[in-house]
Amino acid sequence: MDKFIVEGGRTLRGTVRAKGSKNAALPMMAASILLDPGDRLVLRGVPQLSDIKTMSLLLGKLGVRADRAGETVTLRAVDDSEVEAPYEIVRQMRASICVLGPLVGRRRAARVSQPGGCVIGVRPVDLHTRGIAQLGAAISQEHGYIVAQARRLVGRTVYLGGAFGSTVTGTENVLMAAVLAQGTSLIECAACEPEVQAVAELLNAMGARIQGIGSPRLIVHGVRRLHGADVEVIPDRIEAGTFMAAAAVTGGDVRIDHSRPDHMVAVVEHFRSAGVHVETGDDWIRVMSNGLFKPVDVATLPYPGFPTDMQAQFMALMTLGEGITVITEKIYPDRFMHVAELGRMGARIRKEGSCAIIEGVKSLHGAEVMASDLRASASLVVAALAADGVSEVHRVYHLDRGYDHLERRLNALGARVQRVEEKKGALVREAV
Ligand code: EPZ
Repeated sequence: MDKFIVEGGRTLRGTVRAKGSKNAALPMMAASILLDPGDRLVLRGVPQLSDIKTMSLLLGKLGVRADRAGETVTLRAVDDSEVEAPYEIVRQMRASICVLGPLVGRRRAARVSQPGGCVIGVRPVDLHTRGIAQLGAAISQEHGYIVAQARRLVGRTVYLGGAFGSTVTGTENVLMAAVLAQGTSLIECAACEPEVQAVAELLNAMGARIQGIGSPRLIVHGVRRLHGADVEVIPDRIEAGTFMAAAAVTGGDVRIDHSRPDHMVAVVEHFRSAGVHVETGDDWIRVMSNGLFKPVDVATLPYPGFPTDMQAQFMALMTLGEGITVITEKIYPDRFMHVAELGRMGARIRKEGSCAIIEGVKSLHGAEVMASDLRASASLVVAALAADGVSEVHRVYHLDRGYDHLERRLNALGARVQRVEEKKGALVREAV
């Protein structure tokens, strides 16, 4: 288990290149299950993340061989008889649920371990299973597994609206089930995130017939079979947003290349409202800051609203805002594990239900803090970059799930972040 030792107070300057999107690459890898044995899918710009390794491992158990050469992953369907996604893998990565749709759609059966909850919320998958059942699958729960059986699925109308809006991986699952169904499916209240669009565009490159991409109403004309494709993964908008926060909080000047400002309108606008100077081009974003921030209220919303995956990082910025900020978490009301840890660094944050009220302080101070989930960890690193003195961020394996060599890339911008192996048995305060 590693920790980061972060020397705060250093200004970030220079250029960094955003990597490919984790949340696009994972379901795109799962789409390889739709291939016939012998076909192959080439994905370019795949980030080096532990979640990607986990998905490769899972696909290996499902008869798909994943080979990596640099940032290119080639997926070859070898055996289409396996249909079980085992607990020991799914419990490591919730996104494993993305194999459910393609398994039912192409192999007409699935036995996928029910993903558990995590620190950001209960994380149900009722919309996934209901959507796939609406296409004609018989779905049941057996001993912690989702068990599905189907002859050829049949195109139907599927409604994916839940209490917190649509579902990103649920839309991806239903899409990957519907592309080989008999007839036409209408997916109403589909998620519109760029990652969902990327999956739909990949499926069309593989021979699917999907219309309405980017809208909440997707129309899928089923086809008999799909074929291989060779596509580029879109840039990671959340990683780019995290670098924006790191640059801003240190009063820096950083350009983020290989990014998609058109996927980040809400994020850019919130940074600008906070007084951060942001310039954008087609594929780059430049962030310049004097280290002073106006308080900006935020409510996380489905795309194109402010993304929940940027809530913790933006909160780190607002801990230094000149006033009171209210952050309302409308996607995962409990997604506030970072609040207590930011408090250890001197932040003044009060949680009220699904809201956090932040009273800006003049400065944060370095402290030992503990990562709890991917984006909370990013928030702590952002705060540590701004804090006076040295911080230690424990359990950075959470970060490695979604950020590709983060410390190396921050240091290239002038940060001083050291990755250190936790001494065996080192006492790390247990989050109760
Ligand atoms: C995806 O998770 C992302 N993960 C998450 O990113 C992201 O936070 C989330 O979308 C929201 O944008 C991947 O794409 C791999 P949802 P997902 O289904 O698909 C409720 C990160 O940090 N819901 O869109 O699991 C759910 O509880 C990760 O990179 C149901 O009620 O999220 C939540 O409140 C964290 N029933 C809301 O909908 C369901 O069947 C949105 O969830 C499914 C979801």
